[in-house]
Amino acid sequence: MLEPTVAALTDPHFDGKRYQRDGLDTPSGEPRAGVWVDGTFGRGGHSRALLQRLGPSARLIVFDRDPLAIEAAHTLAATDKRVTVLHSPFAAMQTELAGLGITQVDGILLDVGVSSPQIDDGSRGFSFMREGPLDMRMDTTSGQTAAQWLAEASIDDMREVIKRYGEERFAFQIAKAIAARRTQQGISTTTQLAELVAGVVRTREKGQHPATRTFQAIRIHVNRELEELASALAAALNLLAPQARLAVISFHSLEDRLVKRFMAAAANPGADTARMPLRESERPQPLLQLRGKLVADDSETAANPRARSAVLRVAERTGTPLPAEGGAAFLQGSTHAYGIGVHA
Ligand SMILES: C[S@@+](CC[C@H](N)C(=O)[O-])C[C@H]1O[C@@H](n2cnc3c(N)ncnc32)[C@H](O)[C@@H]1O
Repeated sequence: MLEPTVAALTDPHFDGKRYQRDGLDTPSGEPRAGVWVDGTFGRGGHSRALLQRLGPSARLIVFDRDPLAIEAAHTLAATDKRVTVLHSPFAAMQTELAGLGITQVDGILLDVGVSSPQIDDGSRGFSFMREGPLDMRMDTTSGQTAAQWLAEASIDDMREVIKRYGEERFAFQIAKAIAARRTQQGISTTTQLAELVAGVVRTREKGQHPATRTFQAIRIHVNRELEELASALAAALNLLAPQARLAVISFHSLEDRLVKRFMAAAANPGADTARMPLRESERPQPLLQLRGKLVADDSETAANPRARSAVLRVAERTGTPLPAEGGAAFLQGSTHAYGIGVHA
């Protein structure tokens, strides 16, 4: 998703449908100036590719909540003066950018979810395949670990989280088993949780560990991933200059649905008034224009199986002024639908 994402952000002629059908040989258009945001630096694959398409006067502000990602970002910033690094959740991007005197940007990338280095490092606690402490925080400097949450959450809250964020049929049985186990010996490692869940989930989905859904759910909860994404979408709409692009890559259907609904709502704000007898000039005008949806092609999924579920959605800001409540106006319905706000 590297090449199409950078093209989606910087190529004025980018057309998602055409790209998915024909691919793109060379990026078109002049190097871009202006201010750009990578909300999810990771190890900087996208940032580096984006910098190649930006001119010498451009600025790239990169965010990550993971201290190791931020370390990697500082290494890049040391060799490229266009880069500014912020250790912050991307939901806070509007405030953080305001602190730098920036109120408008020319493109925003969000490549959400966990990174390969996070999953592959057993000590981070994201993987049921690797022994490690049950941490799961992307930002290891703040917040509650998965083990801390599981030690004190009610059965109802655990069931709710595992069901909603893992779409797990056995959520109640898993929550009860966790509550029973913690009174005897506690649950502090990844393998303890993985084995406990495997003992409760009776049906096995082909090619999937029985604890996959539970780990995903707890990770999403601990990191408030859907709340973060929803706030970042609203902030992005507030920040994008006319014709600036927003590119979001998501890895599971809960995230993708949130992005799709938000973009659709901002692209079609008049949906509620469609049946009202209004003149065209009186109807709410689009704030975003949809520029396409892409999925990874066969060669990419062969090289990186994790790309299998990746979806890139792209939208371009129009010149329509923001409503009084800003980008948050287009989240209505989405936050409720995903149970955002479930907390112990
Ligand atoms: C899929 S990786 C991004 C990979 C990156 N595009 C690259 O090329 O290396 C996701 C990254 O986003 C970070 N992240 C996830 N949610 C975040 C949030 N709410 N705020 C800031 N960073 C976040 C994670 O720590 C992780 O490093």
